[in-house]
Amino acid sequence: MKAIILKQNGGVENLILSEVEKPKIQPTEVLVRVKAISINPVDAFARQNKQTVQAILKPKDEKEVIILGWDISGAVEEVGAKVKQFKKGDDVFGMVNFVGQGKAYAEFVAAPADQLTLKPKNISHEEATGATLAALTAWQALVNICKIKKGDKVLIHAAAGGVGHYAVQIAKSFGAYVIGTASSTNRGFVLKLGANEFIDYISEKFEDKIKDADIVLEAIAGNDHLLRSLEAVKKGGKVVSLKSSPEGIVTDKVVKKEIIFNRVMVRSNGDDMKQIAKMLEEGKIHSHISKKYDFKDLPKAHQQIETGKTRGKIVVVL
Ligand SMILES: NC(=O)c1ccc[n+]([C@@H]2O[C@H](COP(=O)([O-])OP(=O)(O)OC[C@H]3O[C@@H](n4cnc5c(N)ncnc54)[C@H](OP(=O)(O)O)[C@@H]3O)[C@@H](O)[C@H]2O)c1
Repeated sequence: MKAIILKQNGGVENLILSEVEKPKIQPTEVLVRVKAISINPVDAFARQNKQTVQAILKPKDEKEVIILGWDISGAVEEVGAKVKQFKKGDDVFGMVNFVGQGKAYAEFVAAPADQLTLKPKNISHEEATGATLAALTAWQALVNICKIKKGDKVLIHAAAGGVGHYAVQIAKSFGAYVIGTASSTNRGFVLKLGANEFIDYISEKFEDKIKDADIVLEAIAGNDHLLRSLEAVKKGGKVVSLKSSPEGIVTDKVVKKEIIFNRVMVRSNGDDMKQIAKMLEEGKIHSHISKKYDFKDLPKAHQQIETGKTRGKIVVVL
């Protein structure tokens, strides 16, 4: 089968379209013929950094062939002996083996059945694959960790990005009052997603405008930004970070304001995927796919995600 392997850590020229052996499935796995893959910032970090590869993919040794990627949508080709919930031909989607090796940049992926769910018939494979790592992150941060509820005031940073655009929609579907941050070019996009307010992070200081959020979804790196987010949350409120944990004066502020601080690390989870699939099916959330790439052009998708300016999701189609 065709796969894109990572020759060595570095630039996109290290992503090589190759012929490799089709994976063999375990009894608890299904073999998925991949129709669409989504690309996330972590894909580019892993391509560039050996430490990220060691921490997330945990290769056995130096010789192991590295295939990046975790987000897939496709059709079940083969079913493991212990798998009851899927049959050959089912359309499924999910984030495979995160943390671990998803090996998603390939024509076929061996995926644990309990990490997948059925693709709703009313959405495409592109829309489905978009709503895997990014949507799971938003779901696990807001629902599982912060226990978001009706009436919560929620500040979502990077609201126009992969995670953020699902987070805005999920928060709205729970009846929250949502404020999204992005640059002015994304004002219309974020408001259309359902945000009640928009803050342009270039011309405005969000912490001057918001001081009583129940929840802040922190998506920007660095202590400085986190410190500002702590200004925007009310005493006893919740901050959930996709990036840093508090250090130094930030920790003092967390303690003083009695903030419930969590750093999220997304995990593969078929039950969470089912909730996301239901919301997609019911039209409560949708995937905004800003660009599709052919499989051979996957390196270009890495270059796009590295800009930090992607709107919604970018996907690769096979
Ligand atoms: N811990 C975890 O498990 C986990 C999981 C997923 C993602 N993450 C991390 O979370 C971050 C967001 O992920 P993503 O997939 O949503 O990334 P993404 O799709 O690349 O995010 C791009 C968006 O970020 C916006 N943005 C950039 N700088 C901003 C700022 N200072 N304030 C507000 N918005 C800003 C951009 O809007 P403009 O173009 O308008 O600037 C753009 O729409 C990444 O750093 C990623 O690595 C962590």
